[in-house]
Amino acid sequence: MIFDERVGVVTGAGGGIGRAIAMKLAREGARLVLVDIAADDIETLAREIERSGGKALACRADVGNESDVGICLERSIAEYGRIDLLVNNAGISPKKVDGTKATLTEISLCEWEQVMRVNLTSAFLMCKASIPHMVRHGQGAIVSISSSAALDGGMLAATHYSASKGAVSAMTRTLAKEVAPHGIRVNAVAPGRVATAMAKLSSDERNRAALGRIPLGRFAEPDEIADSVAYLLSEQASYITGVTLNVSGGYVVG
Ligand SMILES: NC(=O)c1ccc[n+]([C@@H]2O[C@H](COP(=O)([O-])OP(=O)(O)OC[C@H]3O[C@@H](n4cnc5c(N)ncnc54)[C@H](O)[C@@H]3O)[C@@H](O)[C@H]2O)c1
Repeated sequence: MIFDERVGVVTGAGGGIGRAIAMKLAREGARLVLVDIAADDIETLAREIERSGGKALACRADVGNESDVGICLERSIAEYGRIDLLVNNAGISPKKVDGTKATLTEISLCEWEQVMRVNLTSAFLMCKASIPHMVRHGQGAIVSISSSAALDGGMLAATHYSASKGAVSAMTRTLAKEVAPHGIRVNAVAPGRVATAMAKLSSDERNRAALGRIPLGRFAEPDEIADSVAYLLSEQASYITGVTLNVSGGYVVG
């Protein structure tokens, strides 16, 4: 198993992509801390992982809150004694009630700041609290979930969302250089459209239009994003750091 005895923290583990990532890492032997604001979803998932012979604990947290983040990482240290893998996956992409995106002039400052807090500040807080533990062991791997919206403006994304994901990719590049001397790799995965609850926030009509722009002709399955994340976390990617891997079915090329 590629993550035998490694300890991983996955945020947004109660959602579509996060759940697939957690299941994949658990199947590959990682011991996990599942973080999400939706407590029931991660508790159910933790029980499911434990039933199939894995190890996982659920920690309810608002990932934009420094104290919540600190508590979850302390629980990881108390339970497992280390943190080797971090996946910054929690995110939000607010839509208007009719499923269309808000234009920049329609976005309130409060909504802008909330998207930044959940999509970007969360990655800062999780990295800040995890990296000292990785440095202590002289190794670690971090993957953050960006978006094709960070690469080309996106299919259905609003500006606060694109800006937050662009910043996640920029942070990934700088942080990768900063922590490389400690044996820590930092990468991002940029999915195009993925069949999860987030995609369901858009109207059927907009999703159909988006499908027409994907050369592979379908949305990604969460497992396909999880495979990319697992690859970047694994030793198979031991010489890869600072990249944003484009996983968009050909929607973004080059
Ligand atoms: N679905 C897509 O098409 C798509 C495309 C590109 C990128 N992404 C990114 O992938 C990631 C996962 O998206 P998904 O499709 O699985 O979405 P999802 O809505 O199914 O899951 C997101 C999870 O994050 C959790 N979350 C939200 N706010 C939180 C907070 N403040 N603190 C802790 N947890 C919180 C939710 O409870 C949920 O479990 C996000 O970062 C998203 O931006 C998704």
